[in-house]
Amino acid sequence: MTDPWHLLDLRSVNQPIWEHLLEQAEVLTDRRDPLLAGKRFGMVFFNPSLRTRTAFEVACADLGAHAVHLQVGGGLWSLEHRDGVVMDGPHAEHVREGFGALSRMVDGLGLRAFAGMQDIAEDARDDVLRAAAEASTVPLLSLESAMCHPHQGLADALTVRRKIGERAKVVVTWAPHIKPLPLAVAHAATTAFAQEGHDVVVAHPAGFELEAGVLADAARMAKRGGGSLTTTNDRDAALEGARVVYAKSWGATGHYGDAEAGARAVQSHPDWLVDPAAMARTDAAIFMHCLPVRRGVVVADEVLDGPASVVLDQAAARLDVQKATLCRAMGVTA
Ligand code: CP
Repeated sequence: MTDPWHLLDLRSVNQPIWEHLLEQAEVLTDRRDPLLAGKRFGMVFFNPSLRTRTAFEVACADLGAHAVHLQVGGGLWSLEHRDGVVMDGPHAEHVREGFGALSRMVDGLGLRAFAGMQDIAEDARDDVLRAAAEASTVPLLSLESAMCHPHQGLADALTVRRKIGERAKVVVTWAPHIKPLPLAVAHAATTAFAQEGHDVVVAHPAGFELEAGVLADAARMAKRGGGSLTTTNDRDAALEGARVVYAKSWGATGHYGDAEAGARAVQSHPDWLVDPAAMARTDAAIFMHCLPVRRGVVVADEVLDGPASVVLDQAAARLDVQKATLCRAMGVTA
């Protein structure tokens, strides 16, 4: 028996599969066709969602598959993911049995499990996702984990292809927030734009570095694609000549386990909000954000509501790429 195809982190997606997924996303855009008739897709969410869940449910409906949605804390047993623990605490079921059982009932699975932001080593290992992948005998799609948000990265790459269509300077810029957020989206965007061979600049205040292994892999991917990857603490300089401004808040890993210090840190650079003056430094850049976004904290209304903003096109692209990954997971080419 061959191992099922899992989509866990964009860094493990090779170039042919990357191209296949983006090509299939275009082929499947606006397509309502029972390519997946009789197939079943199960989703387990440890965290809330608007876009990811809706896009998979609609993708399944459009392609003739059935979607099952399970929410931890909303009717699903509380799940333990660590091996070797005596389960005498709050968790009633282990991921091994949970995902093992689901694998017997569906043809593909999805899992959302955000970073705990307490133990940096645990988040870097993506323990919940890895445990689920080991237990799943059907393909497992990450719906965002501690380290990556593959479907967001795919949709972001597709959006830039559609809006720009050529190698460009893409700035992934840190933005303020009221509380520290995980690094997964920033990792995914950086990796996706590197995979596309763009000139990627990751801009953030000192102390907000992305995971070193992600940056090293992204730098290799960008170079292989004819682009580049740099990091800087000087956002104004980074924005010069940018065609894409991708804003995202993320927490300082140095404050892991200390929510108050983490919150103070992400609130201490309000000037990193993306406003019209920041956008004016660019080469008529488009503005991107994965959503949800806090208006007036991350980005000024004038930018989000203005002609440069493509955030809703980005969100719409989630449906297209998720149809593509569903089809690949189910062994179907459109
Ligand atoms: N961008 C994104 O994944 O949105 P949701 O968290 O609403 O799914």
